[in-house]
Amino acid sequence: MDNQIVRQQLQDAYQKRVAMRVYQDKKIPQEDLDTILDAAWLSPSSIGLEGWRFVVLENAAVKEAIKAVSWGAKSQLETASHFILLIAEKNARYDSESVYDSLVRRGISEPEAIKTRLKQYQIFQESDMEIADNKDRLWDWTAKQTYIALGNMMTSAALLGIDSCPIEGFPYQKVNALLDEYGVIDSNKEGIASMMSLGYRLEDPKHPRQRKERHTVISTFN
Ligand SMILES: Cc1cc2nc3c(=O)[nH]c(=O)nc-3n(C[C@H](O)[C@H](O)[C@H](O)COP(=O)(O)O)c2cc1C
Repeated sequence: MDNQIVRQQLQDAYQKRVAMRVYQDKKIPQEDLDTILDAAWLSPSSIGLEGWRFVVLENAAVKEAIKAVSWGAKSQLETASHFILLIAEKNARYDSESVYDSLVRRGISEPEAIKTRLKQYQIFQESDMEIADNKDRLWDWTAKQTYIALGNMMTSAALLGIDSCPIEGFPYQKVNALLDEYGVIDSNKEGIASMMSLGYRLEDPKHPRQRKERHTVISTFN
C-alpha cells in the first residue's frame, strides 16, 4: 500500500505544529480531546510500568495558583481550551508494588516467572541504569518516559488541527507542593513532570520556524 496520503498528513502536521502561547476562545470537542488523551494512555513505557497519570486540569483555583508561580504557563493558562498535567510516579524500584502490579497486569502471574522478571529488573535498575538506590534518578527515569506521551499527544493534536505547547517553565517544588495541597497528587508518591496546553491558535507565528540543518541531526552510520 502506498503511504502517500498518511505521509502527507504527517508532514502537514509536523510543519503546522508550533509551540502556541495564546489561544482563541474556542473549546476543543470532547471526542478530539479524548483521542489526544488516548495517545498518552496507549504510549509505551519502560518495562510496561505506566508510571504516570494525565490530569485534565479544570479547577479554577488550582489554575490560578499554578499561574501565579509559572512563567512558562501564564498566557496558556489564561487562554487554552484545555490544560493537562503530566504526573510521574516516584520510587518505581524493581521491588515496588507498582512494578509488581505491572507484571500482573501483563499476565505474568506464576510466582517463579514473577521472581525471574523482578531479578531482571533489579539488574536493569542497579547495573544498567544505576538508578535503583537513587531517588532522584529513579524519578528522572519515570518522568522522562512521560515525554513520550507528551510527544504523542502533541502530534495527535496537530493531526486534529489542534495547537499545543509543552511546558516545563515552572518551579517544580512549588508546583508539587500546591498540587499536593489541593489534593491533585500525593507528593510522597508522585510529582509533576511537565504540563501541556491545548487549543486553537489566535494567530500564526510571525517568524518562520528555525531548525538546525536536517543533515546535521539526521545521519546514517554504515
Ligand atoms: C520540554 C519542553 C518544555 C517547554 N517549556 C515551555 C514553557 O514552559 N513555556 C513555553 O512557552 N514554551 C515551552 N516550550 C516550547 C519551546 O520553547 C518550543 O517548542 C521551541 O522553542 C521550538 O519551537 P516550536 O515548538 O514552535 O517549533 C517547551 C518545549 C519543550 C519541548
